[in-house]
Amino acid sequence: MATAASTASPLSLPPLPYPENALEPVISAKTLSFHHGKHHKTYVENTNKLIAGTELADLPLEQIVAATAGRPERVSIFNNAAQAWNHSFYWRCLKGKGGGEPPAVLKQKMEEAFGSVDACKKELSAAAVAQFGSGWAWLVLEGSKLKVLKTANAETPLTQGSRPLLAIDVWEHAYYLDYQNRRVDHVNALIDKLANWEFAAQNMSK
Ligand SMILES: [Fe+2]
Repeated sequence: MATAASTASPLSLPPLPYPENALEPVISAKTLSFHHGKHHKTYVENTNKLIAGTELADLPLEQIVAATAGRPERVSIFNNAAQAWNHSFYWRCLKGKGGGEPPAVLKQKMEEAFGSVDACKKELSAAAVAQFGSGWAWLVLEGSKLKVLKTANAETPLTQGSRPLLAIDVWEHAYYLDYQNRRVDHVNALIDKLANWEFAAQNMSK
């Protein structure tokens, strides 16, 4: 199913899938307002400006990301388009009263790959904390196996041969108003209280 962000040009900013205060107290309404209303919006607007009049102008967002990945002359388009996609995905990875026990199908995969659900969560947290500078931590499906990855800046598993299941944004704009330098506290609270494991499980079968 196409998301709002997948609609061909001009790309539009998809609305948040919940009210701005839905993730409090882990992520404040103020952070969500800036993150979605300023940062994500700017990535979408910049992508539209950069693709106007090019062969990319009428492509869905996923195809713009795929067509510009690894092409130095297209790096500005890739950075903005991939960030637009990553953020649309990220909002759906979170929900109020999230966290807890994943659905059975995902739990079983976590146990196969990491030994336990807790070990999987720990590896995801460690990747998010260890990402140097701006970037993302991901739970992905590679072939039939779960893996944890981290990517720098706008890089996305979409173009790296694995299927994203869950994303954690560790750019400072994702947490600095609420946690300042304490990225680890933000990440662990997100995994414990906001992670939308149902969404992650749905992504396994897409
Ligand atoms: Fe972000």
